[in-house]
Amino acid sequence: MKSIVILISGRGSNMEAIVHACQQESWPARIAAVISNKADASGLRFAAEQGIATAVVDHKAFTSREAFDAELAKVIDVFAPDVVVLAGFMRILTEGFVRHFEGRMLNVHPSLLPAFPGLHTHQRAIEAGCKLAGATVHFVTPELDHGPIVAQAAVPVLPGDTPEALSARVLVQEHRVYPQAVRWLVEDALSVQGGVVHHRDGHSQLSWGG
Ligand code: GAR
Repeated sequence: MKSIVILISGRGSNMEAIVHACQQESWPARIAAVISNKADASGLRFAAEQGIATAVVDHKAFTSREAFDAELAKVIDVFAPDVVVLAGFMRILTEGFVRHFEGRMLNVHPSLLPAFPGLHTHQRAIEAGCKLAGATVHFVTPELDHGPIVAQAAVPVLPGDTPEALSARVLVQEHRVYPQAVRWLVEDALSVQGGVVHHRDGHSQLSWGG
């Protein structure tokens, strides 16, 4: 049975989708803990209701990024995770932290990377006149919102779209592809060759949403 630790900063809807998929699809894994850098992250309540261990490591209590990341890594390591899942965890991570979990840490980002790393992705996609937007699940590397791509889901940008409308359309896809990608990692189905992620059985790593 593998151990998964999920990091959140807020709502945690991707975390919820992963918890449900793990339960409903009987993954050979358990969600060992949900950890947040914010005590008021609403996702913590859901996790506690599910009987999942929760913890808060408040970044404001630390004087440096390094000190926060060191404490966070210590708290995560208590749960001996095989997989660490960043699910709306809105912190820039130090290289030391990323190296510690490299190869077993995934992130979801609400754009078709490498386009639009960082914030305000939906607004930037609309302003750029993109006809396609989407979400990317990737292995975490020290460079923000980079790293080998595990899965992408694409959605159309519709005439008159607002960032809110596009975000909602993309989020539906995040809830599909992120649990799938985490499951692949739990099942040891992924390999990275030359920076490119392959699925052992050639499963499609691209999906489309309306
Ligand atoms: C999601 O849209 C996720 O892609 C994004 O934050 C949201 C979190 O929602 N993450 C990033 O922008 C990271 N660069 P959630 O808390 O409901 O899962």
